[in-house]
Amino acid sequence: MNSKAWDEVAKSYFDLVVSPFQPGVVNPLLGHLKKIPQPGRCTVADLGCGIGNFLPFLAERFGTVYAVDFSAGMLREARKSHDGKNVRYLKRCLTDLAPLHGKLEVAIAVNSVLAPRHETVDAILEEILRTLKPGGRFAGVFPSMEAILYHGQLILGRELEKAGSASSARRRAVRIHENAKYDYLTGLYRDGNEVQKFYYAFELRQRLKRAGFKNVRLGKVLYPWDAVGDYEAFPGQPPMWDWCVKAKV
Ligand SMILES: C[S@@+](CC[C@H](N)C(=O)[O-])C[C@H]1O[C@@H](n2cnc3c(N)ncnc32)[C@H](O)[C@@H]1O
Repeated sequence: MNSKAWDEVAKSYFDLVVSPFQPGVVNPLLGHLKKIPQPGRCTVADLGCGIGNFLPFLAERFGTVYAVDFSAGMLREARKSHDGKNVRYLKRCLTDLAPLHGKLEVAIAVNSVLAPRHETVDAILEEILRTLKPGGRFAGVFPSMEAILYHGQLILGRELEKAGSASSARRRAVRIHENAKYDYLTGLYRDGNEVQKFYYAFELRQRLKRAGFKNVRLGKVLYPWDAVGDYEAFPGQPPMWDWCVKAKV
């Protein structure tokens, strides 16, 4: 999605986006950031800050916070609700973060590295690395492709229990899961003009290491079934997830 499309989303964010900042979501990013020593001396950037969901937490804890987004609409909403004195707003595409090069102890990107082209994803990860000082840390959340496959398996299992034959169960599951809209090689979901990028765990590790990050660790942001938006809920089954990533320079 381009910046104009995100401008539109800004007006009704939580109706349209499944967010790791919704109530009930288990988000290990928060615990990780709480462990960073001497946070008052750290400069952090929330890269792709959206309407600013993370800004109160960051502004309260860290010395200086850059809130970066390429969508004017998102930045407008973020400014309205968070006018912390230590927050600086930057309208910027993540492919060019020159004003932040070498300035940050911590770079954060929560579901904002979403470019459909792999070259752009790689360019953004390299650019994020350039913003970090030696010893700096990156923490991010990335949509999980495995969670989509897991959801498909849940649908298939349910349909197999209901259906008379395995082939009709498969046909129904393929339709409900919208298999035709996913490209499992590139991790892209396409619906009309909407294109959404999902990541495999091995892909994230590979891309981050190739960009130059070290100590890459993956965990899970867990979404309770009442917080998965348009995805069909399977209460009682283990939850869906996004990838929570930690890495160092
Ligand atoms: C799903 S929202 C997440 C917002 C916020 N991080 C949160 O979790 O609440 C994605 C955000 O990333 C921004 N974004 C996407 N691609 C971007 C890019 N190339 N440069 C700057 N911002 C970008 C969008 O404008 C949007 O605000």
